[in-house]
Amino acid sequence: MTFAIDGLEPRPVVVEADLRSGLPAFTVVGLADRAVSEARERVRAAILNSGFEFPLRRLTVNLAPAHLRKAGPGFDLAIACAILAASGQLSAEALVRVAVFGELSLSGTVRPCRGALAVAEGARRASITGLIVPRERAREARLVDGVEVLGVGCLAELPAALRGETLPEADEAGEDDDAQREGAVPGPDLADVRGHAGAIAALTVAAAGGHNLLLTGPPGTGKTMLARRLPSILPPLGRAEALEVTRIHSVAGLHDGSGLVRARPFRAPHHTISPSGLVGGGTVPTPGEATLAHRGVLFLDELSEFGRGSLEALRQPLEDGHVAIVRGQRIDRFPTRFALVAATNPCPCGRGGQACRCAEPDLARHRRRLSGPLLDRIDLAVPVERPTGEDLLAPPVASSAQVRERVIGARELQAERAGRACGPANAELPSRDLQRAVAITAAASRSLSRTYDRGGLSARGRDRALRVARTIADLDGSGEVQERHVAEALGYRHDGEAVARTR
Ligand SMILES: Nc1ncnc2c1ncn2[C@@H]1O[C@H](COP(=O)(O)OP(=O)(O)O)[C@@H](O)[C@H]1O
Ligand SMILES: [Mg+2]
Ligand SMILES: [Zn+2]
Repeated sequence: MTFAIDGLEPRPVVVEADLRSGLPAFTVVGLADRAVSEARERVRAAILNSGFEFPLRRLTVNLAPAHLRKAGPGFDLAIACAILAASGQLSAEALVRVAVFGELSLSGTVRPCRGALAVAEGARRASITGLIVPRERAREARLVDGVEVLGVGCLAELPAALRGETLPEADEAGEDDDAQREGAVPGPDLADVRGHAGAIAALTVAAAGGHNLLLTGPPGTGKTMLARRLPSILPPLGRAEALEVTRIHSVAGLHDGSGLVRARPFRAPHHTISPSGLVGGGTVPTPGEATLAHRGVLFLDELSEFGRGSLEALRQPLEDGHVAIVRGQRIDRFPTRFALVAATNPCPCGRGGQACRCAEPDLARHRRRLSGPLLDRIDLAVPVERPTGEDLLAPPVASSAQVRERVIGARELQAERAGRACGPANAELPSRDLQRAVAITAAASRSLSRTYDRGGLSARGRDRALRVARTIADLDGSGEVQERHVAEALGYRHDGEAVARTR
């Protein structure tokens, strides 16, 4: 038995081999056409080069269920096992109790392949207690409790593995190394930034509540620099989140098979990316950048350069926290709970405001690009001005370690309110019952309503401002959202001051 990775889901696949007398032939059914011929060549060579015999009879291998999409080379090992069992070279009895997963090389080595964590989860769900995977992926598969994982380096080790003998382990980084990674601040540090107290305050709010952020300002003022320092102040992943991220990155081939991913993902796709590159797609649907950024940050630098279609495609993931990819009869769902950070020049010439020399059509195009689905989902719109000469000489506003501590404190308050070890961030609070969930004072609520009634906010914008105000109150250590928190949150709205000045 083995597993196919279908989207991000492991699906059980039973591999059976049938041997009968007749002219030697080797047929595989139940796989995609091209994969079959390739798998056949690899498996045949691997069996012969591992000191086994390849049966010279009529051999048919079936992968069931037939209707299931089976992509990738991870079935090799299971096919080889089925053949060896059918020809009496491996114990069929022992094989019944385990799942096997791995790619074979022609020489018979078992090569690492994508999705070991997902396969281990599939094994646990199917109540299979033993799992054989490529040695380099054993550590990853062991993240799943309740499944005994055995790593093999080559096909020749299989008989011993099935007898339950201990096999050599891969050289692994020790647990010390893990602990170290957990404590360290990932990426470049905020202490490199001069000035920008306002933008750093906004970055702090974004990190503390998982809010979407837009940095607008002339070129060379430090927008990219600021955005790239967001990972250094994000709270570490909770265990369940970390498993989720590790699974996604493993299926996408971004994980090296070491332990759990600890740092929140930070994805910064280039503006030439296609819609399907951004949200996922393809004939065998693979996750896009929005899913690779799940539980972390998706950074769109030079936002106005992204194609209209790509930005449109982000609408659903931003709103629903997942993308649904429709392929014929079936729908694949990929999670996409990320915080969006975008940076842009105020206009094509980059000067903005009074100094702008752009022609009207260029300005109009720029505005069109930025308006619409995305801007409505921006919680924090922040102007990034040129730092003053004085700023450049002054000490930095803050170090990442200091800010991160405040962020973690604010997240702890959020988790406490949710009554969970690792609750949803404020940005993910559902709209219904939001007012009560955020514990706002009557006065603060009235001031928010006044702004709404004046037409300064859409209904969605109002909810978004309320969530941001909750985060600002959390950073303030305040149990209730007060007027000053609401005022600060409204100051960050793009429908307010910040963007008005740059448009
Ligand atoms: N506030 C700042 N503090 C320190 N260095 C800065 C600052 N702003 C810009 N720089 C320097 O200028 C470079 C370009 O900044 P960048 O973030 O790419 O600007 P932008 O994205 O706004 O065009 C940075 O790599 C950094 O060396
Ligand atoms: Mg830049
Ligand atoms: Zn301009």
